[in-house]
Amino acid sequence: MTRIIITGASGVLGSAVYAAFSSHYTLLGLSHSSPDTRYTPIDLLDPVQVQKVWNEFNPDWVIHCAAERRPDVADKDSEKAQRLNAGVPAFLARLAAQMDHSLIYISTDYVFPGTSPPYLPSSTPDPLNLYGRTKLAGEHALLSFENCSSVRVPVLYGPVKKSEDSAINVLEKVVRDQSGKQYKMDDWQVRYPTNVLDVATFLRKLVELGKPLPKIIHFSAPHKHSKYTLCLAFSQLLSLPCAHITPDTPDPASTGQESVKRPKDCRLDMRETEELLGVGEGEAWDGVEVVRWLEGWFNRDKGEGEGEA
Ligand SMILES: NC(=O)c1ccc[n+]([C@@H]2O[C@H](COP(=O)([O-])OP(=O)(O)OC[C@H]3O[C@@H](n4cnc5c(N)ncnc54)[C@H](OP(=O)(O)O)[C@@H]3O)[C@@H](O)[C@H]2O)c1
Repeated sequence: MTRIIITGASGVLGSAVYAAFSSHYTLLGLSHSSPDTRYTPIDLLDPVQVQKVWNEFNPDWVIHCAAERRPDVADKDSEKAQRLNAGVPAFLARLAAQMDHSLIYISTDYVFPGTSPPYLPSSTPDPLNLYGRTKLAGEHALLSFENCSSVRVPVLYGPVKKSEDSAINVLEKVVRDQSGKQYKMDDWQVRYPTNVLDVATFLRKLVELGKPLPKIIHFSAPHKHSKYTLCLAFSQLLSLPCAHITPDTPDPASTGQESVKRPKDCRLDMRETEELLGVGEGEAWDGVEVVRWLEGWFNRDKGEGEGEA
């Protein structure tokens, strides 16, 4: 049976990837601080530990999801973010070459400046913040190695343990907060929220494709939203007033409200992904639209939800 290591299996994406591969594969899911006993704790910053685990498991594939994904946190400890987001993929790519296995590294649309979407895999990256720069450095580290690919995805949501684990799921809390607190919500940045369950299904298709993968692959849901328009949609779903939420239109970084610069619109062009999968236009993503999916998630306690955290 094909043997796969999934790093960051305790994270939002990694747990969906672990579930998607759990039948028909021999898996080793890695965590760091999570108490979840399905996963093996490891510090990916320690190359000795990594080498030992890799030697013992001898993978055919590694799907590398672990990272510091929060731009603000990455900015505060740039040295650690650089080591985790760029140093670790560089080490894993070298291991992949030495041990002759394939590696998929999860990257981000934040490698682009967001000024001229849509972006092809070959478009010139120019990240606006440190997080994007560290993730791009991770991509670059893979380029000279065979059987190593980067999959760029936009903002993620899906079945989460805590809504704070996703920049999209957390908006439910804002809408539900009817305490009188006022919120200004970004209506400037164009986002393409993509469900981790769909990313996981896509990654399984890539592993099962049976042909060499391109160096850089894009995967994104097609629907445009701002955080503000999502809040409006959620307030309708939840039948809650939303007068406490007002749209914020200027670039938040230009007004000094946010220290980390964010790109305006990084839409990932999916045409090469469609060609890779051999499907028609718009068919590489076949998920449920974000608001519809979250309606099920919000109602999960009533037995209508999809997926499990
Ligand atoms: N979330 C987004 O909106 C988004 C958007 C674009 C791209 N991405 C990319 O998608 C990938 C997955 O993101 P995510 O949202 O699933 O992140 P996440 O929920 O924050 O998960 C991060 C994972 O990394 C693990 N980890 C952190 N430091 C580690 C270390 N030193 N050693 C070993 N493992 C460590 C964590 O383990 P513990 O929890 O056990 O400590 C956790 O499993 C990342 O590469 C991210 O850059 C994410």
